[in-house]
Amino acid sequence: METKIAREHWGSRLGFVLAAAGSAVGLGNIWKFPYITGENGGGIFVLIYLFCILLVGLPILMAEIVVGRSSQKSPVGAFIELAGEESNWKLIGFLGVLSGFVILSYYSVVAGWALNYTFMSLTNFFEGKTPDEIGAIFGELYTAGGINIFWHSIFMVMVISVVISGVKKGIEKWNRILMPFLILIFIVLAVFSIFLDGWKEAADFVFMPHASKLKPSGVLEALGHAFFTLSLGMGAMLTYGSYLEQESDIPKSSLMIGGLDTFVALLACMVMFPIIFTYGHDPQAGPGLIFQTLPIIFGEIGGGGMFLSFIFFVLIVFAALSSGVSLLEVVTSYLIDEKEWDRVKSTLVTGGIVFIFGVPSALSGSGALFPQWEHMYGKNFFDTFDYLASNWMLPLGGLFIALYVGWVMDPATRKADIQRGTSWTQNWFYKGWVILLKYIAPIAVMLIILQRVGLIDIDAIIG
Ligand code: TRP
Repeated sequence: METKIAREHWGSRLGFVLAAAGSAVGLGNIWKFPYITGENGGGIFVLIYLFCILLVGLPILMAEIVVGRSSQKSPVGAFIELAGEESNWKLIGFLGVLSGFVILSYYSVVAGWALNYTFMSLTNFFEGKTPDEIGAIFGELYTAGGINIFWHSIFMVMVISVVISGVKKGIEKWNRILMPFLILIFIVLAVFSIFLDGWKEAADFVFMPHASKLKPSGVLEALGHAFFTLSLGMGAMLTYGSYLEQESDIPKSSLMIGGLDTFVALLACMVMFPIIFTYGHDPQAGPGLIFQTLPIIFGEIGGGGMFLSFIFFVLIVFAALSSGVSLLEVVTSYLIDEKEWDRVKSTLVTGGIVFIFGVPSALSGSGALFPQWEHMYGKNFFDTFDYLASNWMLPLGGLFIALYVGWVMDPATRKADIQRGTSWTQNWFYKGWVILLKYIAPIAVMLIILQRVGLIDIDAIIG
């Protein structure tokens, strides 16, 4: 005698696409992609990245959405529904929920830095400071304990406020506002960049295939990033897919999501690199590119630079917010779907636990907490969580999702599922998708795991 509340659904296809693109577009696009492009010499790396999105990212994205839509459940429930209560496949669901906790807890700390830089821009903090002084700000922030906890809690409150209002009134509504705004302002910034002296050099760097210093490990880095940037491997896209009506066009939506994500990553490069080249800075500055290099340049530009800086960091906060929302939704929807909690209680409890989980990461730089941990593992909390999530949890989750849909799911159901709601996909599309899922994606992901955990050194093997 089960009484069931009807599952909430997206208000429209655009709402779903924007929410999923909101999950995908995040620190990965604005912070990480430009600096790994810089480190790998631009050009060819970007081309290879595009292939990785197309051949590995999009197939797994479609697989996640299919599993979600077909089961109408978040990860744990989805695998119970499709594979059976007794099967071990539900462990992938639990891995996803755990990944949500782990990733959001440190992602929120990075988003907190962006909040801090937003406020520093408002108060003209960089103006009149020497490059060394500006570069040193980041170190001071990183090693300060309390202020990191403060911004971490502000960011978590923002994420919780969106998730608590539900799929349509919270997640969809906010993404409908934040995403168009983010894309529009980025386009405006990119147009401004065209007038800078360094634009040609930047365009050449990003788009021209140079005989670059790209190593085989750079290819794996592009592959791993294709994965992270599309929010794959922990059931975030699966969960968003579970709020789709059965008659929605999955291939079309996936292409739009992947397209938007790639567009923003390339835009981010074409906003940042022209500025960097114009002012003679190093495109290979690494992780410090947005928090150290750019503020130096914003300082050099003067008054208008502070405004630019403010806009830029606000965009980063928006991007991080819509990604953080998808991370929390995976955890929250587990309690709603499987434990039948109501949304308000689930969001507050899971958001609260993620906040507590994040405190050690927020204190990582200050060394205030658990110095023994650092001593034992050679990494602080922040780095340990990032390492575990990016190198083990997400790739393993993605690998098993590809294997499940490629090898275990009943082929007839799978075919009916991906083709339902689409009128334009041909048989070759379906066949290609299955081959990519069965062979290419698992092999690729396996290589990433082996390389990242140091079991193989692909540069020594191929190079
Ligand atoms: N895709 C986001 C980015 O590029 C990060 C992210 C959000 C994510 N949700 C995720 C990564 C789920 C993996 C899984 O910053």
